[in-house]
Amino acid sequence: MSRVLGAALQGVDGGPVEVEVRISSQLPRVDVVGLPEAAVRESAARVRAAIASTGLTFPTQRITVNLAPAELRKGGTGLDLPIAVGVLAANGALEPDSLDGVGLVGELALDGRLRPVRGALALTLALRDAGCRRVIVPEPSAVESALAPGVEVLPALDLGRVCAHLLGSEPLDPASPPRAAGSTAAPELADVRGQEHAKRALEIAAAGGHALLLRGTPGCGKTMLARRLPGLLPALGFEEALAVTRIHGVAGQLREGATIASDRPFRAPHHTASTAGLLGGGQPPRPGEVSLAHHGVLFLDELPEFRRATLEALRQVLEDRRVVIARARGTCVFPAQVQLVSAANPCPCGWRGSRHRDCRCDDEAVARYAARVSGPLLDRIDLHVALESVPWSELDAGPAGPTTREVGERVQEARRRASRRAGGVAATNAAIPDACLEDVVAASADARTLLGRAVDRLALSARGARRVLRVGRTIADLAGEAGTPDWAVAEALGYRDDWTRPAELPAPGAQRRGRAGR
Ligand SMILES: Nc1ncnc2c1ncn2[C@@H]1O[C@H](COP(=O)(O)OP(=O)(O)OP(=O)(O)O)[C@@H](O)[C@H]1O
Ligand SMILES: [Mg+2]
Repeated sequence: MSRVLGAALQGVDGGPVEVEVRISSQLPRVDVVGLPEAAVRESAARVRAAIASTGLTFPTQRITVNLAPAELRKGGTGLDLPIAVGVLAANGALEPDSLDGVGLVGELALDGRLRPVRGALALTLALRDAGCRRVIVPEPSAVESALAPGVEVLPALDLGRVCAHLLGSEPLDPASPPRAAGSTAAPELADVRGQEHAKRALEIAAAGGHALLLRGTPGCGKTMLARRLPGLLPALGFEEALAVTRIHGVAGQLREGATIASDRPFRAPHHTASTAGLLGGGQPPRPGEVSLAHHGVLFLDELPEFRRATLEALRQVLEDRRVVIARARGTCVFPAQVQLVSAANPCPCGWRGSRHRDCRCDDEAVARYAARVSGPLLDRIDLHVALESVPWSELDAGPAGPTTREVGERVQEARRRASRRAGGVAATNAAIPDACLEDVVAASADARTLLGRAVDRLALSARGARRVLRVGRTIADLAGEAGTPDWAVAEALGYRDDWTRPAELPAPGAQRRGRAGR
Protein backbone atom coordinates (compact mmCIF):
# COMPACT_ATOMS: atom_id res chain seq x y z
CA MET A 1 0.00 0.00 0.00
CA SER A 2 1.17 3.58 -0.66
CA ARG A 3 0.19 7.07 0.50
CA VAL A 4 0.59 10.20 -1.63
CA LEU A 5 -0.58 13.75 -0.98
CA GLY A 6 -2.61 15.58 -3.61
CA ALA A 7 -5.20 18.36 -3.49
CA ALA A 8 -8.63 19.23 -4.89
CA LEU A 9 -10.52 22.51 -5.17
CA GLN A 10 -13.28 23.36 -2.71
CA GLY A 11 -14.71 26.64 -3.92
CA VAL A 12 -11.73 28.97 -4.07
CA ASP A 13 -9.79 27.04 -1.48
CA GLY A 14 -7.80 23.94 -2.09
CA GLY A 15 -8.15 21.00 0.28
CA PRO A 16 -5.46 18.34 0.78
CA VAL A 17 -6.44 14.86 -0.40
CA GLU A 18 -4.59 11.79 0.78
CA VAL A 19 -4.42 9.24 -2.03
CA GLU A 20 -4.07 5.68 -0.69
CA VAL A 21 -3.41 2.93 -3.18
CA ARG A 22 -3.63 -0.74 -2.33
CA ILE A 23 -2.75 -3.57 -4.67
CA SER A 24 -4.19 -6.99 -3.93
CA SER A 25 -3.93 -10.27 -5.77
CA GLN A 26 -7.38 -10.53 -7.21
CA LEU A 27 -8.81 -10.20 -10.70
CA PRO A 28 -7.45 -7.04 -12.33
CA ARG A 29 -9.63 -3.98 -11.94
CA VAL A 30 -9.39 -0.43 -10.56
CA ASP A 31 -11.75 0.99 -7.95
CA VAL A 32 -11.66 4.66 -6.98
CA VAL A 33 -13.49 5.31 -3.71
CA GLY A 34 -13.90 8.37 -1.48
CA LEU A 35 -16.55 10.53 -3.22
CA PRO A 36 -14.84 11.05 -6.57
CA GLU A 37 -16.68 13.08 -9.20
CA ALA A 38 -16.78 11.94 -12.85
CA ALA A 39 -13.45 13.54 -13.78
CA VAL A 40 -11.71 11.72 -10.92
CA ARG A 41 -13.36 8.36 -11.69
CA GLU A 42 -12.12 8.68 -15.27
CA SER A 43 -8.67 9.29 -13.88
CA ALA A 44 -7.97 5.54 -13.76
CA ALA A 45 -8.08 5.29 -17.56
CA ARG A 46 -5.72 8.22 -18.04
CA VAL A 47 -3.34 6.93 -15.37
CA ARG A 48 -3.19 3.46 -16.94
CA ALA A 49 -2.39 4.88 -20.41
CA ALA A 50 0.12 7.40 -19.05
CA ILE A 51 2.01 4.76 -17.05
CA ALA A 52 2.15 2.47 -20.10
CA SER A 53 3.35 5.33 -22.36
CA THR A 54 6.09 6.14 -19.88
CA GLY A 55 7.42 2.60 -20.29
CA LEU A 56 6.50 1.43 -16.79
CA THR A 57 4.26 -1.47 -15.86
CA PHE A 58 0.71 -0.96 -14.73
CA PRO A 59 -0.04 -3.77 -12.26
CA THR A 60 -2.47 -6.39 -13.58
CA GLN A 61 -4.02 -6.95 -10.17
CA ARG A 62 -6.84 -5.47 -8.14
CA ILE A 63 -6.09 -1.76 -7.43
CA THR A 64 -8.09 0.18 -4.87
CA VAL A 65 -7.61 3.95 -4.76
CA ASN A 66 -9.02 5.61 -1.66
CA LEU A 67 -9.30 9.39 -1.50
CA ALA A 68 -9.33 10.74 2.06
CA PRO A 69 -11.04 12.54 3.75
CA ALA A 70 -13.93 10.47 2.42
CA GLU A 71 -16.68 12.99 3.18
CA LEU A 72 -15.15 15.60 0.88
CA ARG A 73 -16.26 15.58 -2.76
CA LYS A 74 -13.30 15.56 -5.14
CA GLY A 75 -13.56 17.11 -8.56
CA GLY A 76 -11.10 18.29 -11.17
CA THR A 77 -8.31 16.46 -12.89
CA GLY A 78 -5.44 17.46 -10.61
CA LEU A 79 -5.51 14.11 -8.80
CA ASP A 80 -4.24 12.17 -11.86
CA LEU A 81 -0.59 12.64 -10.93
CA PRO A 82 -0.87 11.63 -7.25
CA ILE A 83 -2.92 8.58 -8.26
CA ALA A 84 -0.33 7.54 -10.87
CA VAL A 85 2.56 8.02 -8.43
CA GLY A 86 0.56 6.16 -5.77
CA VAL A 87 0.07 3.18 -8.10
CA LEU A 88 3.78 3.12 -8.96
CA ALA A 89 4.78 3.35 -5.30
CA ALA A 90 2.36 0.58 -4.30
CA ASN A 91 3.81 -1.53 -7.10
CA GLY A 92 7.34 -1.03 -5.77
CA ALA A 93 8.53 1.08 -8.71
CA LEU A 94 9.10 4.07 -6.38
CA GLU A 95 10.48 4.33 -2.86
CA PRO A 96 7.83 5.43 -0.32
CA ASP A 97 10.48 7.56 1.46
CA SER A 98 10.97 9.67 -1.65
CA LEU A 99 7.38 10.92 -1.21
CA ASP A 100 7.92 12.39 2.27
CA GLY A 101 6.92 16.05 2.35
CA VAL A 102 6.09 16.02 -1.36
CA GLY A 103 2.74 17.16 -2.76
CA LEU A 104 1.63 16.35 -6.30
CA VAL A 105 -0.76 18.12 -8.63
CA GLY A 106 -1.43 17.54 -12.32
CA GLU A 107 -3.65 16.15 -15.04
CA LEU A 108 -2.17 13.39 -17.22
CA ALA A 109 -2.43 13.12 -20.98
CA LEU A 110 -2.52 9.59 -22.41
CA ASP A 111 1.10 9.90 -23.51
CA GLY A 112 2.21 10.78 -19.97
CA ARG A 113 2.55 14.55 -20.47
CA LEU A 114 1.32 16.77 -17.64
CA ARG A 115 -1.48 19.18 -18.40
CA PRO A 116 -2.12 22.40 -16.43
CA VAL A 117 -4.74 22.48 -13.67
CA ARG A 118 -7.16 25.20 -12.71
CA GLY A 119 -6.51 26.92 -9.39
CA ALA A 120 -2.85 25.83 -9.15
CA LEU A 121 -2.09 28.50 -6.53
CA ALA A 122 -4.98 27.44 -4.28
CA LEU A 123 -3.92 23.78 -4.58
CA THR A 124 -0.27 24.59 -3.84
CA LEU A 125 -1.23 26.62 -0.77
CA ALA A 126 -3.37 23.73 0.48
CA LEU A 127 -0.46 21.29 0.09
CA ARG A 128 1.89 23.72 1.84
CA ASP A 129 -0.55 24.05 4.73
CA ALA A 130 -0.79 20.26 4.88
CA GLY A 131 2.94 20.13 5.57
CA CYS A 132 4.49 19.67 2.13
CA ARG A 133 7.88 21.28 1.64
CA ARG A 134 7.93 20.55 -2.10
CA VAL A 135 5.10 20.48 -4.63
CA ILE A 136 5.46 18.95 -8.09
CA VAL A 137 3.21 20.67 -10.62
CA PRO A 138 2.75 20.64 -14.42
CA GLU A 139 5.18 23.01 -16.12
CA PRO A 140 2.41 25.33 -17.47
CA SER A 141 0.97 25.77 -13.94
CA ALA A 142 4.34 26.52 -12.33
CA VAL A 143 4.17 30.30 -12.69
CA GLU A 144 0.89 30.39 -10.79
CA SER A 145 2.00 27.81 -8.19
CA ALA A 146 5.26 29.61 -7.55
CA LEU A 147 3.29 32.59 -6.22
CA ALA A 148 2.71 30.56 -3.04
CA PRO A 149 5.21 31.63 -0.40
CA GLY A 150 7.03 29.14 1.80
CA VAL A 151 7.06 26.08 -0.44
CA GLU A 152 9.37 24.85 -3.21
CA VAL A 153 7.59 24.40 -6.53
CA LEU A 154 9.02 21.82 -8.96
CA PRO A 155 7.67 22.05 -12.50
CA ALA A 156 7.60 18.82 -14.51
CA LEU A 157 6.81 18.12 -18.15
CA ASP A 158 5.64 14.52 -17.87
CA LEU A 159 5.20 11.49 -15.63
CA GLY A 160 8.59 10.08 -16.70
CA ARG A 161 10.40 13.14 -15.36
CA VAL A 162 8.42 13.04 -12.09
CA CYS A 163 9.53 9.41 -11.61
CA ALA A 164 13.15 10.26 -12.49
CA HIS A 165 13.04 13.00 -9.84
CA LEU A 166 11.55 10.75 -7.18
CA LEU A 167 14.10 8.03 -7.98
CA GLY A 168 16.82 10.64 -7.54
CA SER A 169 18.30 10.08 -11.00
CA GLU A 170 17.31 13.42 -12.51
CA PRO A 171 16.17 16.03 -9.96
CA LEU A 172 13.70 18.64 -11.16
CA ASP A 173 14.76 22.29 -11.11
CA PRO A 174 12.72 24.50 -8.79
CA ALA A 175 10.54 27.15 -10.43
CA SER A 176 11.97 30.65 -10.35
CA PRO A 177 10.45 32.88 -7.66
CA PRO A 178 7.56 35.10 -8.79
CA ARG A 179 8.44 38.33 -10.49
CA ALA A 180 7.86 41.45 -8.46
CA ALA A 181 4.59 42.89 -9.68
CA GLY A 182 4.80 46.47 -10.83
CA SER A 183 1.53 48.23 -10.13
CA THR A 184 -0.06 49.72 -13.17
CA ALA A 185 -0.64 53.44 -12.91
CA ALA A 186 -4.16 54.15 -11.70
CA PRO A 187 -6.17 56.55 -13.89
CA GLU A 188 -5.76 60.13 -12.67
CA LEU A 189 -8.59 61.83 -10.82
CA ALA A 190 -7.47 65.26 -12.00
CA ASP A 191 -8.32 64.19 -15.57
CA VAL A 192 -11.97 64.56 -14.61
CA ARG A 193 -12.88 68.22 -14.91
CA GLY A 194 -15.54 69.82 -12.75
CA GLN A 195 -17.88 67.33 -11.03
CA GLU A 196 -16.63 68.51 -7.64
CA HIS A 197 -19.70 67.12 -5.92
CA ALA A 198 -19.16 63.66 -7.43
CA LYS A 199 -15.42 63.72 -6.74
CA ARG A 200 -16.11 64.54 -3.13
CA ALA A 201 -18.57 61.62 -2.99
CA LEU A 202 -15.88 59.38 -4.48
CA GLU A 203 -13.46 60.45 -1.75
CA ILE A 204 -16.04 59.73 0.95
CA ALA A 205 -16.87 56.39 -0.65
CA ALA A 206 -13.19 55.43 -0.66
CA ALA A 207 -12.64 56.57 2.93
CA GLY A 208 -15.67 54.79 4.39
CA GLY A 209 -16.08 51.85 1.99
CA HIS A 210 -19.55 53.14 1.12
CA ALA A 211 -21.51 51.92 -1.89
CA LEU A 212 -22.05 54.68 -4.44
CA LEU A 213 -24.59 55.39 -7.16
CA LEU A 214 -23.78 57.98 -9.82
CA ARG A 215 -26.82 59.14 -11.71
CA GLY A 216 -26.62 61.52 -14.62
CA THR A 217 -26.96 62.33 -18.27
CA PRO A 218 -25.01 60.42 -20.96
CA GLY A 219 -21.35 61.32 -21.27
CA CYS A 220 -21.12 63.35 -18.07
CA GLY A 221 -18.22 61.23 -16.78
CA LYS A 222 -19.88 58.57 -14.60
CA THR A 223 -17.82 55.70 -15.96
CA MET A 224 -14.72 57.86 -15.86
CA LEU A 225 -15.26 58.66 -12.16
CA ALA A 226 -15.99 55.05 -11.19
CA ARG A 227 -12.74 53.83 -12.76
CA ARG A 228 -10.84 56.20 -10.51
CA LEU A 229 -12.06 54.66 -7.26
CA PRO A 230 -9.56 51.74 -7.00
CA GLY A 231 -6.69 54.23 -7.25
CA LEU A 232 -7.99 56.06 -4.16
CA LEU A 233 -8.16 52.92 -2.01
CA PRO A 234 -5.22 51.79 0.14
CA ALA A 235 -2.82 49.32 -1.49
CA LEU A 236 -3.58 45.60 -1.15
CA GLY A 237 -1.97 43.90 1.84
CA PHE A 238 -0.02 40.70 1.15
CA GLU A 239 -2.71 38.32 2.39
CA GLU A 240 -5.36 40.27 0.45
CA ALA A 241 -3.23 40.11 -2.68
CA LEU A 242 -2.78 36.37 -2.28
CA ALA A 243 -6.54 35.90 -1.82
CA VAL A 244 -7.28 37.92 -4.95
CA THR A 245 -4.69 36.01 -7.01
CA ARG A 246 -6.02 32.68 -5.79
CA ILE A 247 -9.57 33.51 -6.85
CA HIS A 248 -8.42 34.64 -10.28
CA GLY A 249 -6.47 31.39 -10.59
CA VAL A 250 -9.49 29.28 -9.69
CA ALA A 251 -11.53 31.18 -12.26
CA GLY A 252 -8.86 30.28 -14.83
CA GLN A 253 -8.00 33.93 -15.36
CA LEU A 254 -4.29 33.86 -14.56
CA ARG A 255 -2.27 33.75 -17.70
CA GLU A 256 1.37 33.05 -18.27
CA GLY A 257 3.63 35.46 -16.49
CA ALA A 258 1.16 35.65 -13.61
CA THR A 259 2.22 37.79 -10.69
CA ILE A 260 0.65 38.33 -7.29
CA ALA A 261 -2.10 40.90 -7.72
CA SER A 262 -0.80 44.36 -6.90
CA ASP A 263 -3.78 46.49 -7.87
CA ARG A 264 -7.21 46.29 -6.35
CA PRO A 265 -9.52 44.54 -8.80
CA PHE A 266 -11.95 46.63 -10.80
CA ARG A 267 -14.62 44.54 -12.47
CA ALA A 268 -17.26 46.03 -14.71
CA PRO A 269 -19.58 43.23 -15.88
CA HIS A 270 -21.94 44.08 -18.71
CA HIS A 271 -25.61 44.44 -17.84
CA THR A 272 -26.45 41.40 -19.97
CA ALA A 273 -24.35 39.23 -17.62
CA SER A 274 -26.15 36.15 -16.33
CA THR A 275 -26.70 35.59 -12.63
CA ALA A 276 -24.14 32.78 -12.77
CA GLY A 277 -21.65 35.04 -14.53
CA LEU A 278 -22.10 37.72 -11.92
CA LEU A 279 -22.35 35.64 -8.78
CA GLY A 280 -20.63 32.41 -9.78
CA GLY A 281 -21.91 28.99 -10.71
CA GLY A 282 -21.48 26.22 -13.24
CA GLN A 283 -20.24 22.67 -12.79
CA PRO A 284 -17.78 22.62 -11.14
CA PRO A 285 -18.71 26.00 -9.60
CA ARG A 286 -16.51 28.88 -10.65
CA PRO A 287 -16.34 32.30 -9.03
CA GLY A 288 -18.33 35.06 -10.72
CA GLU A 289 -17.58 38.73 -11.25
CA VAL A 290 -18.47 39.68 -7.69
CA SER A 291 -15.80 37.29 -6.36
CA LEU A 292 -13.29 38.36 -8.99
CA ALA A 293 -13.80 41.85 -7.55
CA HIS A 294 -13.00 40.59 -4.01
CA HIS A 295 -11.06 43.30 -2.08
CA GLY A 296 -11.76 45.70 -4.94
CA VAL A 297 -14.50 47.50 -6.81
CA LEU A 298 -17.53 46.02 -8.57
CA PHE A 299 -18.83 48.56 -11.06
CA LEU A 300 -22.34 48.09 -12.40
CA ASP A 301 -22.76 50.52 -15.25
CA GLU A 302 -26.33 51.12 -16.46
CA LEU A 303 -27.71 49.65 -13.24
CA PRO A 304 -31.41 49.62 -14.30
CA GLU A 305 -30.53 47.50 -17.35
CA PHE A 306 -29.42 44.55 -15.20
CA ARG A 307 -31.95 41.79 -14.76
CA ARG A 308 -33.95 42.33 -11.65
CA ALA A 309 -33.51 38.79 -10.34
CA THR A 310 -29.76 39.18 -10.75
CA LEU A 311 -29.73 42.40 -8.75
CA GLU A 312 -31.84 40.85 -6.02
CA ALA A 313 -29.44 37.93 -5.71
CA LEU A 314 -26.58 40.43 -5.65
CA ARG A 315 -28.16 42.33 -2.78
CA GLN A 316 -27.90 39.26 -0.57
CA VAL A 317 -24.29 38.76 -1.58
CA LEU A 318 -23.38 42.36 -0.78
CA GLU A 319 -24.85 41.91 2.65
CA ASP A 320 -23.20 38.56 3.42
CA ARG A 321 -19.95 39.59 1.72
CA ARG A 322 -19.71 36.11 0.20
CA VAL A 323 -21.49 33.92 -2.34
CA VAL A 324 -22.92 30.62 -1.21
CA ILE A 325 -23.70 28.20 -4.03
CA ALA A 326 -25.87 25.41 -2.69
CA ARG A 327 -25.86 22.17 -4.61
CA ALA A 328 -27.34 18.81 -3.86
CA ARG A 329 -23.77 17.59 -3.47
CA GLY A 330 -22.67 20.24 -1.00
CA THR A 331 -22.25 23.97 -0.77
CA CYS A 332 -19.45 26.04 -2.10
CA VAL A 333 -18.51 29.46 -0.74
CA PHE A 334 -16.75 32.20 -2.68
CA PRO A 335 -15.58 35.34 -0.88
CA ALA A 336 -17.05 38.62 -2.18
CA GLN A 337 -15.95 41.62 -0.16
CA VAL A 338 -16.51 44.31 -2.71
CA GLN A 339 -17.24 47.97 -2.84
CA LEU A 340 -20.18 48.57 -5.14
CA VAL A 341 -20.18 51.50 -7.50
CA SER A 342 -23.06 51.82 -9.88
CA ALA A 343 -24.08 54.26 -12.56
CA ALA A 344 -27.40 55.01 -14.19
CA ASN A 345 -29.07 57.47 -16.46
CA PRO A 346 -31.94 59.34 -14.82
CA CYS A 347 -34.48 58.10 -17.38
CA PRO A 348 -34.67 55.88 -20.51
CA CYS A 349 -33.62 58.66 -22.91
CA GLY A 350 -31.01 59.85 -20.44
CA TRP A 351 -31.68 63.58 -20.46
CA ARG A 352 -34.09 64.17 -17.62
CA GLY A 353 -32.78 66.98 -15.45
CA SER A 354 -30.40 68.23 -18.13
CA ARG A 355 -29.93 71.93 -18.72
CA HIS A 356 -28.91 71.26 -22.28
CA ARG A 357 -31.44 68.94 -23.78
CA ASP A 358 -35.09 68.10 -23.27
CA CYS A 359 -36.15 64.77 -21.89
CA ARG A 360 -38.49 62.81 -24.15
CA CYS A 361 -39.81 60.43 -21.49
CA ASP A 362 -43.16 60.76 -19.77
CA ASP A 363 -43.36 60.51 -15.99
CA GLU A 364 -44.65 56.97 -16.12
CA ALA A 365 -41.73 55.77 -18.23
CA VAL A 366 -39.32 57.42 -15.81
CA ALA A 367 -41.03 55.81 -12.84
CA ARG A 368 -40.91 52.41 -14.52
CA TYR A 369 -37.24 52.87 -15.30
CA ALA A 370 -36.40 53.84 -11.73
CA ALA A 371 -38.48 50.96 -10.39
CA ARG A 372 -36.26 48.46 -12.22
CA VAL A 373 -33.82 48.81 -9.37
CA SER A 374 -35.54 47.71 -6.19
CA GLY A 375 -35.86 49.99 -3.22
CA PRO A 376 -34.09 47.55 -0.90
CA LEU A 377 -31.01 47.55 -3.15
CA LEU A 378 -30.98 51.34 -3.43
CA ASP A 379 -31.42 51.49 0.31
CA ARG A 380 -28.09 49.77 0.75
CA ILE A 381 -26.27 52.35 -1.32
CA ASP A 382 -25.00 54.98 1.11
CA LEU A 383 -24.09 57.67 -1.39
CA HIS A 384 -26.44 58.79 -4.14
CA VAL A 385 -25.09 61.49 -6.41
CA ALA A 386 -26.81 63.30 -9.27
CA LEU A 387 -24.50 64.81 -11.87
CA GLU A 388 -24.68 66.62 -15.15
CA SER A 389 -22.31 67.28 -18.04
CA VAL A 390 -19.62 69.83 -17.41
CA PRO A 391 -19.83 72.91 -19.65
CA TRP A 392 -17.22 73.06 -22.40
CA SER A 393 -15.47 76.07 -20.85
CA GLU A 394 -14.74 73.99 -17.73
CA LEU A 395 -13.80 70.87 -19.69
CA ASP A 396 -11.39 72.86 -21.78
CA ALA A 397 -9.69 75.06 -19.24
CA GLY A 398 -11.26 74.57 -15.84
CA PRO A 399 -9.17 73.86 -12.74
CA ALA A 400 -7.98 70.26 -12.58
CA GLY A 401 -8.82 69.72 -8.90
CA PRO A 402 -7.07 67.33 -6.53
CA THR A 403 -4.97 64.45 -7.85
CA THR A 404 -5.45 60.74 -7.18
CA ARG A 405 -2.43 60.88 -4.90
CA GLU A 406 -3.68 63.80 -2.79
CA VAL A 407 -7.11 62.29 -2.31
CA GLY A 408 -5.59 58.83 -1.74
CA GLU A 409 -3.53 60.20 1.15
CA ARG A 410 -6.58 61.82 2.76
CA VAL A 411 -8.46 58.53 2.36
CA GLN A 412 -5.69 56.54 4.05
CA GLU A 413 -5.55 58.98 6.96
CA ALA A 414 -9.33 58.80 7.44
CA ARG A 415 -9.24 55.00 7.29
CA ARG A 416 -6.45 54.87 9.86
CA ARG A 417 -8.50 57.06 12.19
CA ALA A 418 -11.59 54.92 11.67
CA SER A 419 -9.82 51.63 12.29
CA ARG A 420 -8.10 52.96 15.46
CA ARG A 421 -11.49 53.95 16.79
CA ALA A 422 -13.36 50.82 15.74
CA GLY A 423 -10.66 48.55 17.17
CA GLY A 424 -11.61 45.66 14.93
CA VAL A 425 -15.42 46.01 15.17
CA ALA A 426 -15.72 46.95 11.50
CA ALA A 427 -13.26 47.15 8.62
CA THR A 428 -14.84 50.35 7.30
CA ASN A 429 -17.51 52.81 8.39
CA ALA A 430 -19.92 51.31 5.87
CA ALA A 431 -19.73 48.04 7.79
CA ILE A 432 -20.38 49.44 11.28
CA PRO A 433 -23.07 47.16 12.78
CA ASP A 434 -26.35 48.90 13.63
CA ALA A 435 -26.00 47.87 17.27
CA CYS A 436 -22.96 50.06 17.91
CA LEU A 437 -23.63 52.74 15.31
CA GLU A 438 -24.70 55.37 17.86
CA ASP A 439 -21.54 54.91 19.92
CA VAL A 440 -19.18 54.93 16.97
CA VAL A 441 -20.76 57.92 15.27
CA ALA A 442 -20.90 60.00 18.49
CA ALA A 443 -23.08 62.65 16.86
CA SER A 444 -23.11 66.07 18.57
CA ALA A 445 -26.36 67.47 20.01
CA ASP A 446 -26.68 69.84 17.03
CA ALA A 447 -26.11 67.00 14.62
CA ARG A 448 -28.87 64.98 16.27
CA THR A 449 -31.28 67.88 16.08
CA LEU A 450 -30.47 68.36 12.41
CA LEU A 451 -30.97 64.69 11.63
CA GLY A 452 -34.27 64.69 13.55
CA ARG A 453 -35.52 67.59 11.43
CA ALA A 454 -34.43 65.85 8.23
CA VAL A 455 -36.18 62.63 9.22
CA ASP A 456 -39.44 64.57 9.59
CA ARG A 457 -39.11 66.86 6.61
CA LEU A 458 -37.70 64.36 4.09
CA ALA A 459 -39.60 61.38 5.50
CA LEU A 460 -36.31 59.50 5.91
CA SER A 461 -36.68 55.85 6.78
CA ALA A 462 -34.88 54.48 9.82
CA ARG A 463 -32.40 52.83 7.48
CA GLY A 464 -32.00 56.06 5.56
CA ALA A 465 -31.19 57.88 8.78
CA ARG A 466 -28.56 55.29 9.69
CA ARG A 467 -27.08 55.72 6.24
CA VAL A 468 -26.74 59.44 6.84
CA LEU A 469 -25.01 58.77 10.17
CA ARG A 470 -22.51 56.38 8.61
CA VAL A 471 -21.65 58.81 5.84
CA GLY A 472 -21.47 61.65 8.38
CA ARG A 473 -18.99 59.58 10.41
CA THR A 474 -16.75 59.21 7.35
CA ILE A 475 -16.95 62.93 6.56
CA ALA A 476 -15.90 63.67 10.14
CA ASP A 477 -13.03 61.17 9.83
CA LEU A 478 -11.81 62.91 6.69
CA ALA A 479 -11.80 66.17 8.66
CA GLY A 480 -10.07 64.60 11.67
CA GLU A 481 -13.01 65.17 14.05
CA ALA A 482 -13.40 62.89 17.08
CA GLY A 483 -17.22 63.12 17.11
CA THR A 484 -19.64 63.79 14.26
CA PRO A 485 -20.57 67.48 14.09
CA ASP A 486 -23.72 68.94 12.53
CA TRP A 487 -22.00 70.11 9.34
CA ALA A 488 -20.88 66.54 8.62
CA VAL A 489 -24.48 65.33 8.94
CA ALA A 490 -25.60 68.24 6.75
CA GLU A 491 -23.17 67.22 4.01
CA ALA A 492 -24.20 63.56 4.37
CA LEU A 493 -27.83 64.58 3.81
CA GLY A 494 -26.74 65.94 0.43
CA TYR A 495 -25.89 62.43 -0.78
CA ARG A 496 -29.30 60.92 -0.45
CA ASP A 497 -30.76 62.08 -3.73
CA ASP A 498 -33.50 59.51 -3.48
CA TRP A 499 -34.47 57.64 -6.58
CA THR A 500 -37.06 55.32 -5.20
CA ARG A 501 -39.94 57.74 -5.32
CA PRO A 502 -40.88 59.03 -8.77
CA ALA A 503 -42.29 62.21 -7.22
CA GLU A 504 -38.78 63.08 -6.13
CA LEU A 505 -37.22 62.78 -9.57
CA PRO A 506 -35.84 66.04 -10.81
CA ALA A 507 -38.19 67.72 -13.26
CA PRO A 508 -36.66 68.80 -16.57
CA GLY A 509 -34.47 71.82 -15.96
CA ALA A 510 -34.35 71.41 -12.18
CA GLN A 511 -30.86 70.57 -10.99
CA ARG A 512 -29.51 68.63 -8.07
CA ARG A 513 -32.47 68.83 -5.88
CA GLY A 514 -30.63 66.77 -3.34
CA ARG A 515 -28.27 69.60 -2.55
CA ALA A 516 -31.05 71.84 -1.25
CA GLY A 517 -30.60 70.26 2.16
CA ARG A 518 -26.97 71.30 2.48
N1 LIG B 1 -15.94 65.81 -16.31
C1 LIG B 1 -15.23 65.38 -17.35
N2 LIG B 1 -13.92 65.70 -17.46
C2 LIG B 1 -13.20 65.28 -18.51
N3 LIG B 1 -13.68 64.50 -19.49
C3 LIG B 1 -14.97 64.13 -19.45
C4 LIG B 1 -15.80 64.54 -18.37
N4 LIG B 1 -17.02 64.04 -18.58
C5 LIG B 1 -16.95 63.33 -19.70
N5 LIG B 1 -15.72 63.38 -20.24
C6 LIG B 1 -15.31 62.75 -21.50
O1 LIG B 1 -16.44 62.08 -22.01
C7 LIG B 1 -16.19 60.69 -22.18
C8 LIG B 1 -17.39 59.90 -21.74
O2 LIG B 1 -17.46 59.88 -20.34
P1 LIG B 1 -18.06 58.64 -19.56
O3 LIG B 1 -17.91 57.42 -20.37
O4 LIG B 1 -17.48 58.65 -18.23
O5 LIG B 1 -19.57 59.08 -19.53
P2 LIG B 1 -20.79 58.36 -18.84
O6 LIG B 1 -21.38 59.34 -17.89
O7 LIG B 1 -20.37 57.08 -18.30
O8 LIG B 1 -21.78 58.19 -20.06
P3 LIG B 1 -22.91 57.08 -20.33
O9 LIG B 1 -24.11 57.47 -19.57
O10 LIG B 1 -23.14 57.19 -21.79
O11 LIG B 1 -22.34 55.78 -19.91
C9 LIG B 1 -14.97 60.40 -21.35
O12 LIG B 1 -14.19 59.40 -21.93
C10 LIG B 1 -14.23 61.71 -21.33
O13 LIG B 1 -13.36 61.81 -22.42
MG1 LIG C 1 -20.85 55.09 -18.84
